Amino acid sequence: MSAEESPLVSSLDRGAATVSSLDAPGAVSAIGAGPGAGAKGSAIGLYARATPGFDERLARTVEVLRQVAADFGPGALQSTSLGVEDMVITDLIARHHLPIALATLDTGMLHDETLALIPRIRNRYGLEVEVFTPVREQVLHFVRANGEFPMTRSVELRKACCGVRKLEPLSRMLTGRSAWITGLRREQSANRADVPFREDDGQGRTKINPLAEWRWADVWHYVQLHDVPYNPLHDQFMPSIGCAPCTRAIAVGEDFRAGRWWWEDSAKECGLHASHSDAPSATESPTSATTTSHATSGAPV
Ligand code: ADX
Ligand code: SF4
Repeated sequence: MSAEESPLVSSLDRGAATVSSLDAPGAVSAIGAGPGAGAKGSAIGLYARATPGFDERLARTVEVLRQVAADFGPGALQSTSLGVEDMVITDLIARHHLPIALATLDTGMLHDETLALIPRIRNRYGLEVEVFTPVREQVLHFVRANGEFPMTRSVELRKACCGVRKLEPLSRMLTGRSAWITGLRREQSANRADVPFREDDGQGRTKINPLAEWRWADVWHYVQLHDVPYNPLHDQFMPSIGCAPCTRAIAVGEDFRAGRWWWEDSAKECGLHASHSDAPSATESPTSATTTSHATSGAPV
């Protein structure tokens, strides 16, 4: 499904961003723009910036990933949304020859541009992304009962849709795995402000967040340095990309996740990261796991 087909993506919101010096926490600004920063109008041009400490943050991330491979071996999996953070992680996995498998959840509602990254990853890195899809009968049942786009009617219906399309496939994706790698970053939202490098996912697995301390400028600096393939929708002011009906472009100064489920006044989490859907918790260390308890994830709501 393309963004253009989505009745819920307002074309008025497209291209709404203009250069501004807004730099509120969790907000996207354009301070990375500048001569030589990249193509004009591209996310690289807008956001890529070498900032103090980047090399150290990158080194810690590589160390976290190496440690995951050593600690969990084939039990570890990268859960990739094919968003830019996840593309950086995939690039690092490939660059450092880490034996970590990749998998994604195709909800049936993703943009074509998102799915196009799967063959791009294959061509660029020689890596396969295993695709997990919802159970067809469950989707048909849900759509028959509630319609195809019931998500704006209530948070409960939205979460039920996420349950069928994301959480049930997630539970299959993680079967037999002891650790999963995500692209969560502290800067993404207030809920994620304390994201640790390692945490207990509340389901007996370890969740690894190797980019926890990265800034938005870091992500794009890395993409520029290594010519990492990325979703062209990021060039259209979509820093956070999920399902097409539930993603819109943001305006300058808006929160990273303002374009996700924008009609909701909620924590804006679908349940994949239940531990960050409310008050943040957990301490962090590049090398040690935390053992906080978390709400249920990995099962349909
Ligand atoms: S979400 O919970 O709101 O959808 P977000 O889009 O910020 O999360 O992504 C955070 C991390 O969750 C990603 O870096 C990725 O690890 C994981 N994730 C999100 N969506 C998917 C998906 N469709 N398939 C696999 N992993 C995903
Ligand atoms: Fe359904 Fe939207 Fe959740 Fe995707 S993000 S599973 S379309 S409610």
